[in-house]
Order: sequence, then C-alpha cells, then structure tokens
Amino acid sequence: MAAEDQKWSFVVTANRLPVRRVWEGDTAKWVPSPGGLVSALRPVMSGNPDAVWAGWTGVPGPGTEPFEVDGFQCHPVGVSQGELQLFYEGFSNATLWPLFHDALVPPEYHRTWWDAYRTVNQRYAAAVANLAAPGATVWIHDYHLLLVPGLLREARPDLRIGFFLHIPFPARELYIRLPWRAEIINGLLGADLIGLQTPLGADNFCRAVARITGAKTTGKLIQHNGRATQVGAFPIGIDTDRIASLAADPAVQARATEIRQSLGSPATVLLGVDRLDYTKGIEVRLRAFRELLAEGRLSVDDCVLVQIAEPSRSQVTGYAEVRQAVEQLVGDVNGNFGVMGSPVVHYLHQSHPIEELVAMYLIADVMLVTPLRDGMNLVAKEYVACRPDNSGVLVLSEFTGAAQELRTAELINPHDVEGLKSAMEAAAHRPQAEAEPAMRTMRRLVRSNTAQRWAERFLARLEGCE
Ligand code: F6P
Repeated sequence: MAAEDQKWSFVVTANRLPVRRVWEGDTAKWVPSPGGLVSALRPVMSGNPDAVWAGWTGVPGPGTEPFEVDGFQCHPVGVSQGELQLFYEGFSNATLWPLFHDALVPPEYHRTWWDAYRTVNQRYAAAVANLAAPGATVWIHDYHLLLVPGLLREARPDLRIGFFLHIPFPARELYIRLPWRAEIINGLLGADLIGLQTPLGADNFCRAVARITGAKTTGKLIQHNGRATQVGAFPIGIDTDRIASLAADPAVQARATEIRQSLGSPATVLLGVDRLDYTKGIEVRLRAFRELLAEGRLSVDDCVLVQIAEPSRSQVTGYAEVRQAVEQLVGDVNGNFGVMGSPVVHYLHQSHPIEELVAMYLIADVMLVTPLRDGMNLVAKEYVACRPDNSGVLVLSEFTGAAQELRTAELINPHDVEGLKSAMEAAAHRPQAEAEPAMRTMRRLVRSNTAQRWAERFLARLEGCE
C-alpha cells in the first residue's frame, strides 16, 4: 500500500512535528522540536505502530514524504515562507499568544494574518481527514490549530475528536477583544472533549462560550448546534521515568560535577531554564538578583546564577526586545559584580539537549521559574524529578499552571520584586533539612501525574464521550 493510502486509528496533530529539520553546513539532521508539548507527547506516541503525527518540519516549503521517529509515523504538513510569517509569526504568535497570556504585550489584529491562519488550519484538517481510519481517534494540540476541530467535524463526522490547549485560556474580558472570537469558539466546539491545563482555564473557556454563543452549559458540558462538547482540566506532566533515569546516569552526573567545577564550585547555584520569551519573567529574576547582590543579601563569593535562554520566535514582535533587555541586564550584573574570570551570571542563548539540562538541574540548589503567565511550565516538574535526595528549592510563580499542583514550592508573585527577592534569598540560604519536606511532596506529585498518565486520563475521557 502506498504511504499516502495508509489509514491510522490514532492521529495526533500539532503545529510542529516532534522533530525539526536543521542544517549544519551542508548536512541536514533531525533534532527534537522545542517546547513542552513535544516532550510530553513523545512518550505517549513512542513505539505506537497505530499512531501518526501530522505537523510541520520547521522548514518552510511543501510537505515532504512521511518518515518514522521513535517507532511511530510522522506526516509532514507544508507551510510556505509567506504562511510562516502570517500564520505562525503573525496570528499564532503575535495575536493569540500575547492575548492568551494576559496581553503582556499588545496583541495585533490583522485580517491578512487571520486569512492565512484559516488557510493553514484547513490544510491541517484536510491532512488529518485523509490519514484517519473510519471511527479513528484524533487529538489536536494547541493554539495554532483552534479551527481544526470544527473543520474536521464537518469533513469527518465519524471521528472522535479531542483538543488540548497547552497555554492558558484568558479571562473572558480579554478573549472577547478578538475580532474572530466567534469563529474560534465555533471551531473548538467541533471537538468532543476540550482539555485545558487548569480549572481556571476551563472556567474561562466556558464563560467565553456562554457569552459568545449563548450555548447551554451545564457544569462542564456545552450543548451547541445539536452537539455536546465536554470541557475539563487535565494538567500535563512529564516523562518522569526518563528524566529520573537521566539524573541517575553516571555520565550525566559526571557532567554535572564538571559544570559545577567550571562555575568555580560555588556554594549556591541558582538556575533558570526557559525559552527566551517575554512571558517567562527572565528580566524580573535578573533584576531581583542584581538588587540582592547590591544590598549584600547574596554574595558573589558563594552564589552563581546560570540562565539558559533557548532561542525562540526571533522574528516575532516582543522577542527581540526581551532578548535585548535580558542581555543588557546580564551585562549590567556582570559588569558591576563579576570579577576577572568569574562572571556572576552565566548566560547561554542556546538550545541544549535534555542530558545537558538534567546535568544543570542536578547542580541547581535553587531553581527559578518566574513567569508572568505560563500554561503549565514543565521545567519546574523536570527539576523536581531530578532531586531524588529531596534537596533543592523551587521558586515558582503563582501564575504558572504548575503552581496549582506544586503547592509546596516557594510560591512568588513575579510582579512583586521585594517578595521575589525575599524568596530567592531565603531559598539560597535554606538548610537542606528544611527544604526536604517540600521537595518530597512535590516529587510524589510529579511521579503520580506523568505525561503518560495525563494522556491516559484525557483519552479515557474522550473514549467515554457520547
Ligand atoms: O507550549 C507552547 C508552545 O507554543 C508549543 O506549542 C510549542 O511546542 C512550544 O511552545 C515552542 O514554541 P514554537 O513552536 O513557537 O517554537
């Protein structure tokens, strides 16, 4: 059978495939795609011969031949250079992303972006309709594909359709600013089940639906246009076993020791690991750190801050600005407080393989996760999974989905600089015995709500939808 004729009983679609094509000189290779979505879904797909993942390769151009990764099929969907600018950089990342993250930068509304968004969503829906076997289960992911559930429902009423939003769903008062608010809600309501990261996200969504469509909602069941859609909170997890086994790997541990030594074996390592995004609150933590040093509450003699900032969306409004601001702050802190040969902030604007990140989690006495808004934040969970001796302190923003679960973290309001400073200072000085109970509780949680469990819960609920 030709590859394009093969039908699948389980189809996943997200903007990106789990791997992306990168060029090193003349050689092309596949590397893992960035972000939490891929790291959470990959273990669910791994080795599943009945599953296919439809998405973009990260390179503009027509869709290429299907290929296999980790024992499952990947089906590339083409996105042209022009669409990349209008659909991905434009509507997805300069309209929806900021709007859904509390309008931290002003969302832009352009009709040309919307047209491209619709066109690309139609292409994804057509690709999935073509891949899905009769009665198949389809799982659609994230804000790039909000219209796909409805388009797919029209084309293939036989399918069981689930949708999961990885980012926050905003307050209704913000959502209703969107000129295409009704089209998007109607698109989403093509799904049998809509999953959000938190109960607040699910409430916000139901409130927006009630206001925009007048649909009848009973609890989390929405009746609209003769169909029922269920809504629920499904907080996403990580591949805890994989992260924990990397943390136990002697090669990774040796690398951790090497990194600590290369930092000058400081008494306290503070760590931030983020995509370089204005939502992540990287500037906030650097400012707090600078003030703590200036006030003598932390000392360069025993503290080092490592900030990993993975390059991200550099062509999108707001991202060049945040990079400039972060790099200026890093320069300022090092210029004022560093000593010859020993910067106090080690800043890397680079992507790192997971093995290297785990080595960094292993040496981090204090993990700084300070977003202004974040759907979940899997870095917080990965850090916890890397602390088998229950050591370390997680400083965690209240405005992350993770804070709903990791209640024993050092919770902070990233808008409150004095509060953040006190939390960072206390975390850096906290004796291990005092830190242990909080970490133990968080570890139990991260072990029980893994990516696999998250997917099982979502798919079991989807199978139960009438
Ligand atoms: O979690 C939000 C998200 O947009 C994911 O959909 C994506 O995998 C990740 O962030 C990385 O972003 P991008 O695909 O824009 O590089």
